[in-house]
Amino acid sequence: MKIKKAVIPVAGKGTRFLPATKQIPKEMIPIIDKPMIHYAVMEAVESGIEQIIFVTSSGKSSIEDYFDRNMELETFLENNGKSDYKDLIHKIGTMTEVLTVRQKEQLGLGHAILCAKDLIGDENFAVILGDDLVLNGKPVTKQLIECSEKHNNQSVIGVMEVNPQETNKYGIVEGSFVEKDKTLAMTRMIEKPEPKDAPTNLATPGRYILSKNIFSILERIPRGVGGEYQLTDAINVLAQEEKVFAHIFEGDRFDAGSVNGYLEATVEFALRDSKYADVMKKIIKDKVEKYSIR
Ligand code: UTP
Repeated sequence: MKIKKAVIPVAGKGTRFLPATKQIPKEMIPIIDKPMIHYAVMEAVESGIEQIIFVTSSGKSSIEDYFDRNMELETFLENNGKSDYKDLIHKIGTMTEVLTVRQKEQLGLGHAILCAKDLIGDENFAVILGDDLVLNGKPVTKQLIECSEKHNNQSVIGVMEVNPQETNKYGIVEGSFVEKDKTLAMTRMIEKPEPKDAPTNLATPGRYILSKNIFSILERIPRGVGGEYQLTDAINVLAQEEKVFAHIFEGDRFDAGSVNGYLEATVEFALRDSKYADVMKKIIKDKVEKYSIR
């Protein structure tokens, strides 16, 4: 079963980025010269995804516009001898098919995913959280799709190792390895356990391949932590009803939805970009000297 669709929920309020997010969707805040959401959509496209479903809310139309054609801008760039930029803008407007659905009330990530039910239909799908960025050679969604294919097209949760003292910042999975140091048959996910209660140090940033059966579960689970419909609660029920795997993906993850993670992502992305690496190294070197950083 080929995974063709990815849901990218973008309906959240982005409170950690206020006041910027009073007027700008968090996903449109740029990392260097591209909005955050560009990297998530690129990851989907490079993973073989053919259709992106944004779950949006009011004030988020700039995300749709970004992935649409802008003929006026393309013509302007062409007529002014800026064909490189014209090509870039054209490429972004044609890189994938985009559909949107509104989440009318922000009732949690689980509820946001449920909003995409009719657009997904009867197939398994990927979920990508646009503010969790992963830098890697092979896109992390592709790694999870390959794992799902290897395991009879079952659901796969992307996980990463975290400092065992910091399990209380993440959703942590429990399970037993079916492939050494790589893939576990998951028994459950636990939200933010204290280190002493954590079964593993394998945390779940926002990457999933989900069985279509998740929708009927999302329809019946009660509200969970914070009064929200939690995707974690639905995945725990799913793991009781069918096999769910957790796969340790390769790559460095940045929580760009927090200001600290965003700062780190900006520096790291620049250092890995041949166009900006030298200037970023010089900035860091100068600042280290100026502020006597050790
Ligand atoms: P976050 O927990 O990061 O929430 O949601 P947020 O609103 O984006 O940001 P903060 O915490 O207020 O700063 C994780 C993902 O789930 C989406 C968000 O858009 C984000 O991509 N989400 C969350 C929804 O689409 N709907 C919701 O009701 C909640």
